[in-house]
Amino acid sequence: MSRTLIIGSAGQLGSELLCAFPPGEAFGADLEAADFQLDITNYNALRSCITEVQPSCVILTAALHEPAFCEAHPQLAYQINALSCLETAVLCRHVGARLIYISTDYVYGGYSFSPARPFQEIDPVRPVNVYGKSKTAGERYVIENCSDYLIIRTASLYGQNPCRGKKGRNFVETMLARAREGSPVHVVTDEMCSPTCARDLAEQISILATAAPSGIYHAVSKGFCSWYDFAREIFFQFKIDADLLPVQRMNFQDAFRRPAYSLLDRSKLARSGLDYMPDWQDGLKKYAAARSLEI
Ligand SMILES: NC(=O)c1ccc[n+]([C@@H]2O[C@H](COP(=O)([O-])OP(=O)(O)OC[C@H]3O[C@@H](n4cnc5c(N)ncnc54)[C@H](OP(=O)(O)O)[C@@H]3O)[C@@H](O)[C@H]2O)c1
Repeated sequence: MSRTLIIGSAGQLGSELLCAFPPGEAFGADLEAADFQLDITNYNALRSCITEVQPSCVILTAALHEPAFCEAHPQLAYQINALSCLETAVLCRHVGARLIYISTDYVYGGYSFSPARPFQEIDPVRPVNVYGKSKTAGERYVIENCSDYLIIRTASLYGQNPCRGKKGRNFVETMLARAREGSPVHVVTDEMCSPTCARDLAEQISILATAAPSGIYHAVSKGFCSWYDFAREIFFQFKIDADLLPVQRMNFQDAFRRPAYSLLDRSKLARSGLDYMPDWQDGLKKYAAARSLEI
């Protein structure tokens, strides 16, 4: 029987990953609310956890990923996103486990193609902020220290268990909350995304975990849109009459540099024969249906 250790199991993606594996085959580790209470910056605890579970696969989803917070706390960002990843990689090699590192479109953004085209796995990374740079360092540590790894880059995640790293919010829930307040909702039209439901991604990862050859994969929903179009589809799917207004990114001040363009090309996943990701609208439709059952 395979044994998968999910580190970051209480998070938005981690909680879905726990459900994506057969009962008894997945074990969760997180700062709290998990089979193993674990702070990945505590290397003794990390070693004990991996030694005790003896996993055939470790999925590292724990991260510090609020970009403004990372920018203000670079040492902590590198410690969690990169150095703990190095430690995990070495431990995985030691126990013979496959390591799956969840990464991000923010490894790109330092340049865009002209004309713009989504980034392929073979394109050189060029992050523009501390979050992206620390995740890029994590990727390098995985590649250099594990012979059996998957680096799965994803983007624009939303899930039933809203992102704790972003104070319990994700874009869908933020849009719904703003609309319910009744005030105008301003959303950018000049930035593109591939909205990806955490449940779909978790199921995709569980398939790649056993079937995909070692390497880097871009795993996002099919298709892309502007954040404005995403918001419009959210209000449509949730049947909410919101006062949605288009704006340009330059109207917002950020405490960190955003990638100008970071769409992920997903043709490697499509070619693998293992692509189970839905169109982004279908993913949102399923999420809306599940959320309405909750309410
Ligand atoms: N969310 C997105 O839009 C997005 C986009 C692209 C890529 N990603 C990547 O996807 C992965 C999962 O993101 P997510 O949205 O599921 O994030 P999340 O909801 O914040 O989940 C991360 C989990 O890791 C835990 N964690 C943080 N620091 C830890 C530590 N030192 N030791 C042990 N556990 C720790 C968090 O606990 P606390 O909540 O208690 O801190 C949380 O439960 C991340 O690697 C991220 O870089 C996310």
